[in-house]
Amino acid sequence: MSSQFPEARPRRLRRSAELRGLFQETEFTLNDLVLPIFVEEEIDDFVPITSMPGVQRIPESKLAGEIERYAKAGIKSVMTFGVSHHLDASGSDTWQERGLVSRMSSIIKDAVPEMIVMSDTCFCEYTDHGHCGVMHGAEVDNDRTLVNLGKQAVAAARAGADVIAPSAAMDGQVQAIRRALDEAGFSHIPIMAYSTKFASALYGPFREAGGSALKGDRKSYQMNPMNRREAVRESLLDEQEGADALMVKPAGAYLDIIRDIREASRLPVAAYQVSGEYAMIKFGAQAGAIDEARVVRETLGSIKRAGADLIFTYFAMDLALAGI
Ligand code: PBG
Ligand code: ZN
Repeated sequence: MSSQFPEARPRRLRRSAELRGLFQETEFTLNDLVLPIFVEEEIDDFVPITSMPGVQRIPESKLAGEIERYAKAGIKSVMTFGVSHHLDASGSDTWQERGLVSRMSSIIKDAVPEMIVMSDTCFCEYTDHGHCGVMHGAEVDNDRTLVNLGKQAVAAARAGADVIAPSAAMDGQVQAIRRALDEAGFSHIPIMAYSTKFASALYGPFREAGGSALKGDRKSYQMNPMNRREAVRESLLDEQEGADALMVKPAGAYLDIIRDIREASRLPVAAYQVSGEYAMIKFGAQAGAIDEARVVRETLGSIKRAGADLIFTYFAMDLALAGI
């Protein structure tokens, strides 16, 4: 065994901040970040989400002003989640021309036309049972949910959404939405598929944020976190169905999956740093255990390094205000 030392001394490139900067391999900018937002109808005031310190539900009446504030700070894209007061068995408000899904997109595009609106396309915040589709007995009915996903996607596109982002985890959802969009004249609207979505305990705080009615779990439609091969298969199926971009969710505990999919596909790959990842960092920092600003940059940088082209993160606005 011949050592490369003393010729090899990697520390030579780390001697100053300038050298470290010059040789840094991975970077992220505001062009890579999407800010997920929660918009509630029929309320007047912001509602703090206690399990996500710093995140609030936005009253619909204040959405336009918020979007202007984000745009001024440099945010390029938001993902919309509605907190609905109109729940029913199928989530039918989502495909009404004047429903909350449509109103969020039109309000945002009217306020700041260049803001990229990704419309989260699912039903769990609009169903009285909290599942991501129509029930048939105790099960979510995959194929009937597909029809409704198509209707919701078309309504969102009509209202001005730039990107349709289906998160219901139904088989065939990308194909169903692609066909519905094309038939309605929206062949130019891309689909950002939540293509590898795990049934994760890290979504915990989101349930409070979205006011979820769910009892039970989503394990019969979202993926088993222990499955690596299947994770790649799910994303490749969505690619074949016509997805324009793929996504891994959650992000930080799934860096291996991000890398696998980056290598298996040529499509853009996104990753979603979810509510529980956000909460762990916030509460850890509040307890004085970690340095929030540094941990945020390290986790997002690592998600990029693993292969993500863009990242959904609740820290996007903090980063924008900090000048990244
Ligand atoms: C619902 C949906 C969830 C998230 C995004 N869309 C929750 C779930 O699947 O239970 C999670 C986002 C987060 O935790 O930040 N389809
Ligand atoms: Zn859902």
